[in-house]
Amino acid sequence: MTTQRIEGVAAGANDQGGAPSLTVTDNRTGRSYEIPISDGTIRAVDLRQIRVDDDDFGLMTYDPAFMNTAACRSAITFLDGDRGILRYRGYPIEQLAEHSTFLEVAYLLLHGDLPTRQQLEAWESDIAHHVYVNESTKQFMDGFRYDAHPMGMLEATVGALSTFYPEAKNIGDEANRYRQIVRLIAKMPTLGAWGFRHMMGRPYVYPDKTLPYAGNFLNMLFSHSVVDFERDPRIERALDVLFILHADHEQNCSTSAVRSVGSAQADPYSAVAAGIAALYGPLHGGANEAVLQMLNRIGSTSDIPAFIEGVKAGKERLMGFGHRVYKNYDPRAQIIKKATQDVFEVTGVNPKLAIAMELEKIALEDDYFISRRLYPNVDFYSGLIYEALGMPLEMFTVLFAIGRTPGWVAQWNEMLNDKEQKIARPRQIYVGAEERDYVPLDKR
Ligand SMILES: CC(C)(COP(=O)(O)OP(=O)(O)OC[C@H]1O[C@@H](n2cnc3c(N)ncnc32)[C@H](O)[C@@H]1OP(=O)(O)O)[C@@H](O)C(=O)NCCC(=O)NCCS
Repeated sequence: MTTQRIEGVAAGANDQGGAPSLTVTDNRTGRSYEIPISDGTIRAVDLRQIRVDDDDFGLMTYDPAFMNTAACRSAITFLDGDRGILRYRGYPIEQLAEHSTFLEVAYLLLHGDLPTRQQLEAWESDIAHHVYVNESTKQFMDGFRYDAHPMGMLEATVGALSTFYPEAKNIGDEANRYRQIVRLIAKMPTLGAWGFRHMMGRPYVYPDKTLPYAGNFLNMLFSHSVVDFERDPRIERALDVLFILHADHEQNCSTSAVRSVGSAQADPYSAVAAGIAALYGPLHGGANEAVLQMLNRIGSTSDIPAFIEGVKAGKERLMGFGHRVYKNYDPRAQIIKKATQDVFEVTGVNPKLAIAMELEKIALEDDYFISRRLYPNVDFYSGLIYEALGMPLEMFTVLFAIGRTPGWVAQWNEMLNDKEQKIARPRQIYVGAEERDYVPLDKR
């Protein structure tokens, strides 16, 4: 049996404490290969050297849904689902939610470090300067049907922004990239709020650059010519915290979509529109809506035991519980639970909160949920806050998209600066027909 060394692996590295490596034996040929291990991974292309003969393409990995494939190196977000840890650029999410603001977190995600006071002021001023949109955007949005879903409107309108800023396609120019990033973060609340106003049949409210980020968004949503909208700092803070909690979550479905489209060197508006499209899906951004529907259906705390029995019997799922990555309490759920109570101090308690808390208590004591490591996730309480703020269900995912925008653009920017990245292009295992001759229509 021969061992072929794949470039970069020192001789005898395995047993003599050199560079870590993996030895694999191809039982088809009896040959062994030593493959370098770095950062706990092997490079999939290294496997290509494992071949039966010269005509063989080489070994590939098959990984539908990317269950075990790292597609990039990233310095933005650290997530340890087993231990319930989430950090942006090294800072624990709990500390950011307590002390930071959404715009400061956006700066952190993009630049890698917290800003100085001067940098923060310049950043906030840049964002405030770009909250307005071209007047034609309004006409574009007006063209949607009267009851259009605001998430569909957001997806289309963000994509349409590329036609307003054609220079955005010059993605190699760093200053130009920065301008588009600022525009995206700044205009997202404007477009999200206008989608809501359109759905409600109300006139659009122009942005006010003198207001804080969350305050400006709430004002565009709820300001009325007849009834004055009263701003409340506790509500604005709760919304800012929700945005912080959603700001990034490493290589999730929508972020992967942004990176994938961005890897074709599309402009950032098109790439972020792809992210919004992915987030629109009920398996990604739509779960908070499902939680609220579930709480509505349960109706009262006395009906919880019967509901839990149904879940345990496999009739349905306890929405807002369980996560692909978190096998512990989602750290964001703890923070949202606290924010929920802060919001209810202002708006009055939503009776569904009592049902949610009782559900959580019962589930966390039940062996079905304990043994499967099912804990509340970020969506369990967030819908209750959105509802208390007066948001219809259709707006829940729009709020998620506004919060996630800094993460999308930070990941897009990181990808463009990564020399190893190329256009994303997965391989496939072809399972279709062998070559066959065309059959004329009258012979079929
Ligand atoms: C998030 C989710 C899709 C993760 O799924 P996953 O990692 O593929 O986990 P699985 O579907 O393999 O579930 C593992 C086990 O836990 C059970 N389970 C998972 N989530 C459950 C839930 N919310 N309620 C009841 N049982 C659940 C499954 O039935 C399965 O049990 P089994 O081993 O007896 O078959 C899943 O937990 C879920 O559907 N949660 C509810 C929806 C939700 O809140 N989504 C928001 C995510 S942020």
